[in-house]
Amino acid sequence: MAANRTFSIIKPDATRRNLTGAVTKMLEEAGLRVVASKRIHMSREQAEEFYGVHRERPFFNDLVTFMISGPVVVQVLEGENAVQRNRDIMGATNPANADAGTIRKELAESIEANSVHGSDSDENAATEIAFFFKPEEIVG
Ligand code: PPS
Repeated sequence: MAANRTFSIIKPDATRRNLTGAVTKMLEEAGLRVVASKRIHMSREQAEEFYGVHRERPFFNDLVTFMISGPVVVQVLEGENAVQRNRDIMGATNPANADAGTIRKELAESIEANSVHGSDSDENAATEIAFFFKPEEIVG
């Protein structure tokens, strides 16, 4: 299969603990290439729009408040089967259920402070990449 792209966020718990490099190393070792990256501090409005699909979920406000509690690093990752490859190295949403060797098992703190976000489909990857990056900011 040809290389394709996914979208990743290194969350505030990871940037706070200076784990941007550690997370990126695990992504790279999993066969993903960082083709765009920037450190930002999301506004509440931006986070609410990004996570709009979860608006009715009970944890929505906690999730948004957490995601704006500090800087994040948004990235575009490229690789064969990028969406699934990224989700495999991320591990389960709740680090307690994540497999050994995954980012969430090795680095995350809790189901909320779970260190990384990754797109769950090619379609959402395209939408999420376009939410944060202009085409010219992505250099493959
Ligand atoms: S998924 O991918 O939609 O099936 O994942 P899901 O488990 O439904 O979670 C969606 C996002 O919500 C976050 N989440 C939570 N945040 C705070 N508190 C609680 N209890 C909680 N449960 C889930 C989860 O980390 C997902 O965030 P992203 O950024 O998409 O990884």
